[in-house]
Amino acid sequence: MSLQAILFDAYGTLFDVYAISAEAERQFPGQGTTLANLWRDKQIEYTRLRTLSGTYQPFDQVTRDALQFACSKLGLTLDQSVQERLMAQYNQLTPFPENLSVLHELKREGMALAILSNGNPDMLDPVVKAAGMEGVFTHVISAHRVKKFKTAPEVYQLGLDLLGVAVYNSLFVSSNGWDICGAAWFGYRTFWVNRAAAPREVLGVSPDGEGRSLHDLLQFVRQREEH
Ligand code: LAC
Repeated sequence: MSLQAILFDAYGTLFDVYAISAEAERQFPGQGTTLANLWRDKQIEYTRLRTLSGTYQPFDQVTRDALQFACSKLGLTLDQSVQERLMAQYNQLTPFPENLSVLHELKREGMALAILSNGNPDMLDPVVKAAGMEGVFTHVISAHRVKKFKTAPEVYQLGLDLLGVAVYNSLFVSSNGWDICGAAWFGYRTFWVNRAAAPREVLGVSPDGEGRSLHDLLQFVRQREEH
């Protein structure tokens, strides 16, 4: 079956979240990386708790709550201006250096490209714009539409419904191992952009393709097209 559409996760896959640790380090010298990691883990944990319990809040609220928890846990005082400064980083993340050129190449090959993210539209719209990616994607799809987060199947289903493609003609791309598992369980073919050379999740899932950057994704797509 030929590939018609590629759906991308946003944070860490298309947008480099490094700026968040850098800002955290400026605000809390010596603790930036620890804070950024704990913040991210807590953010994802809260998305799961809220989805499992049916207590959805938009991703920006979840992210803010996770930041408050992470600071409390580390004994860091988070005043309002620092909180706003850290949250603001999410709106101005830069794309990984290879991304724009690879996305344009994929478009030239006839692929429909979309973002499928936990981020709510108020978070996604500014970062897509700041990254110069307006016009690259046919759809920027947010989990907010179904008021559940990945890995709920309803979120992955959104991609197919909005793009109007069959799951076997679609590829889901993420840098998050857990997101790859969720998408594969749903039925997508998957490509893991394993930027951090992380170990595979032990969940019985193997991605269809794996690489370190979107360059490797381009190669994977081209090889598939040749067969
Ligand atoms: C997203 C997060 C999980 O964009 O990276 O959905």
